[in-house]
Amino acid sequence: MIILGLNAFHGDSSACLIRDGQLVAAAEEERFRRIKHWAGFPSQSIAYCLREAGIGLKDVDHLALNQDNRANLWRKIAYLARRRPDPALILQRLRNRRKRQGVRELLETAFPQDSFRGAVHNIEHHLSHLFSAYYVSPFSEAAVVSIDGFGDFSSAAWGVGRDGIIAVEGRVHFPHSLGVFYQALTQYLGFPYYGDEYKVMGLAPYGKPVYLDHMRRIVKLLPGGSFELDLRYFRHHQEEIPYQWQNGSPEIGDLFSPELETLLGPSRRSDAALEDKHRDIARSVQAIYEEAFFHLLEPLQNRAGLSDIALAGGCAANSVANGKIRRKTKFSRVYVQSAAGDAGGAIGAGYAAWQKFGGKRSFLMDHAYWGPQFSQSEIARLIDARRTEIVESECTIEDIADEGELCRRTAASVTEGKVVGWFQGRMEWGPRALGNRSIVCDPRRADMKAILNAKIKRRESFRPFAPSVLDSAVADWFEEDDAVPFMMQVFQIREAKRAQIPAVTHVDGSGRLQTVYRNTNPRYYRLIESFRDMTGVPMVLNTSFNENEPVVCEPQQALECFLRTKMDVIVLGDTLITRRNDVS
Ligand SMILES: [Fe+2]
Repeated sequence: MIILGLNAFHGDSSACLIRDGQLVAAAEEERFRRIKHWAGFPSQSIAYCLREAGIGLKDVDHLALNQDNRANLWRKIAYLARRRPDPALILQRLRNRRKRQGVRELLETAFPQDSFRGAVHNIEHHLSHLFSAYYVSPFSEAAVVSIDGFGDFSSAAWGVGRDGIIAVEGRVHFPHSLGVFYQALTQYLGFPYYGDEYKVMGLAPYGKPVYLDHMRRIVKLLPGGSFELDLRYFRHHQEEIPYQWQNGSPEIGDLFSPELETLLGPSRRSDAALEDKHRDIARSVQAIYEEAFFHLLEPLQNRAGLSDIALAGGCAANSVANGKIRRKTKFSRVYVQSAAGDAGGAIGAGYAAWQKFGGKRSFLMDHAYWGPQFSQSEIARLIDARRTEIVESECTIEDIADEGELCRRTAASVTEGKVVGWFQGRMEWGPRALGNRSIVCDPRRADMKAILNAKIKRRESFRPFAPSVLDSAVADWFEEDDAVPFMMQVFQIREAKRAQIPAVTHVDGSGRLQTVYRNTNPRYYRLIESFRDMTGVPMVLNTSFNENEPVVCEPQQALECFLRTKMDVIVLGDTLITRRNDVS
């Protein structure tokens, strides 16, 4: 049985292909379209998944979408009847609904030479999130939680997964939403773009939670683990929030109301300086998010008595809160797959359909390498075509077929403070580069963050960089020890170790680690081993291979990024290109 799973018409559009219960391919549309968070119909991701599986659309039995307009329909009708919102809001929703109904037509347009004869299934948004977390996790029994902005009129859902079956125990419905709260306050703090919430999370440790009481007025915790918003501070429930949500990157108007500025003072313009007040608000936002998060998790753990938890939804990207689960609750293992947000809903919808047709749960997602890969001969052709340009850029080109030697040479460059592009194997699924489309640097250098920002990244100075750590070394370097293959938990670095790795130690002593395993990424593991052998430090700084664009997908994009920036070294498969006369 072949199932195509889609997240379409949402930010982070994506596709995945499941063959007889095993994931074959998964990718986000932004990587092909080269527009961050691309929202629309993911035709290029679909084309890639079919290519990877060596099949055509005609061979697909089922197509599963992570949305179901009929879900919570009575609730929607009751809400509309009660609240009488702006007719423009209703019209906008109807327009979106119409767009979503034409999947077969969109497939016909995108694939005129092929034909889809299978069935289309609409899987409710949060059920898709829950499946995307639990169904591919290593747990036979686990609590499972989904928290996001909104999808199909809900903003959170939770329950228990047992032997492949998910029993939903509770939900939070529109207009109450932790995701909208976090997004609204992110906008208030002057970070206007879709997906900017992680900047607030990064800023939070620089402030004090002095606005926590204000936040408690905005987010109210309810008995039993649920929560609600004081809607006076928001606009989304009664006005049309302007957004561009089709064939481009998502842009969203302000979600907060003037009442919020009465409570907290004027919002920050995106070009205004960051002041202590903004840092304090960021800290308070993160603090109330964690209060609500643990308010939800604790009773769930008590009721179910389980030791494992799987998380999904946009808020599952809050790696700081995730990293505190083991300390603050009785849960001892946490699983958050690499595409925890809406992109991952493609996988959840796909597996919900698989189960619906009697499929057994037999797939574990223990790595993120489900995207396109390129052979050494394709890389060689690219280098040949661009050889003159590369050489004229003062670079030397070497092919090093011996993997040990390639890793040693690369690790040596890292120890010299060089910024190294590392392009290998299949592209990662989800927003993080996890050792195949990565830039790696020396975590021991206090100036590495400044060097990286000057040469390529140009990030806000408060944002941290993250370490990729050999799995066996986590307990020695961090206060927690769990599998974190997708960089979805932040742990405290042991105090005695922090001074050794300043480039990946955040201001509060934390680090957003990736645990690296020999069996799922042997080459990346070997690179870090080589670095450890030279330095005694079993980790490298890892950031995504890109420059203000989606993470690179093809070798050509990686090479172009290398040539237009001041990156010192690039490793494309077995090819090592080094810029001469570089200044570190
Ligand atoms: Fe979602």
